[in-house]
Amino acid sequence: MANERTFSIIKPDAVERGLIADILKMITDSGLKIKGMKMIRMDRPKAEGFYAVHKERPFFGELVDYMISGPVVVSCLEGENAIENYRKLMGATNPADAAEGSIRAKYGQNIQNNACHGSDGPDTAKTEVAYFFNDDELVG
Ligand code: CMP
Repeated sequence: MANERTFSIIKPDAVERGLIADILKMITDSGLKIKGMKMIRMDRPKAEGFYAVHKERPFFGELVDYMISGPVVVSCLEGENAIENYRKLMGATNPADAAEGSIRAKYGQNIQNNACHGSDGPDTAKTEVAYFFNDDELVG
């Protein structure tokens, strides 16, 4: 599988608990390279736009409230098979179901406050990276 890019968010609950460095270490130890990274605080329209695909889901309102509740760290990751490898490293959406040793098993609190986000496919990855990064910010 060729080198590809994916998009990651270290979510507010993980930032709040001082877990940025621990999660980034897991990411880089796995072989993924950080192409671009920044800490931001999303406003409501930005978070609603990012999760627009979940607009009709019952958890949408709470999800947006949570994602704007504090700063997050967004990054563009690159590596062989990056999308699938990062999803494996994160573990299942619900930390209770996440494989042992995965980011969400170690640091997730519940299905919403699950420590991190990663793109679920090549099209999403492209859209999500572009939603947060200009080309000149992808310097790694
Ligand atoms: P994420 O991978 O960022 O994609 C959508 C997010 O919605 C998910 O992680 C969780 O933070 C949140 N979420 C809350 N409830 C649910 C649910 N029942 N199913 C899936 N995602 C949920």
